[in-house]
Amino acid sequence: MLTPAMTDRLNKQIGLEQYSSNLYLQMSAWCDHQGYTGSAAFLREHAGEELQHMHKLFDYVCETGALAVLGALNAPPPGYKSLGDVFEVTYKHEISITAGINQLVASALAEQDFGTFQFLQWYVSEQHEEERLFKSILDKISVIGLEGKGIYFLDKEIRKLAGQTTVS
Ligand code: FEO
Repeated sequence: MLTPAMTDRLNKQIGLEQYSSNLYLQMSAWCDHQGYTGSAAFLREHAGEELQHMHKLFDYVCETGALAVLGALNAPPPGYKSLGDVFEVTYKHEISITAGINQLVASALAEQDFGTFQFLQWYVSEQHEEERLFKSILDKISVIGLEGKGIYFLDKEIRKLAGQTTVS
């Protein structure tokens, strides 16, 4: 059974995962509009993964007998300065999500809610993978660059990364 405080925290995380999905879907639209079709495909696929993260939390809250509550979401930014800007934002966003998961884990331990602590371990591992994935894109941008044909090859490389983190 979840405490009301833990239910509230998990519901907030549900909102953050749903926002992540909207953020990446909007980025996908911007990339497609700019002709970066590989990045658009990658981000669209990743938006779907974020929805799975959201549903996993939603199901957990429901299974404990607590009430899952979907709150209002902010609109994601519609535009970016460059493809590099998009992936700087994704990396910073994932770091902020990791911080949120870490706070949830700390709260679960403080409350001696070991069921939630155990459940959250999946998110701890997933965030490690997510940060690694988005950092690898920033590394590619740094090596290949965004000038001339570089952006064409970069976009093709980013397309290959679709599906590199798994949800189970
Ligand atoms: Fe659900 Fe990308 O964190």
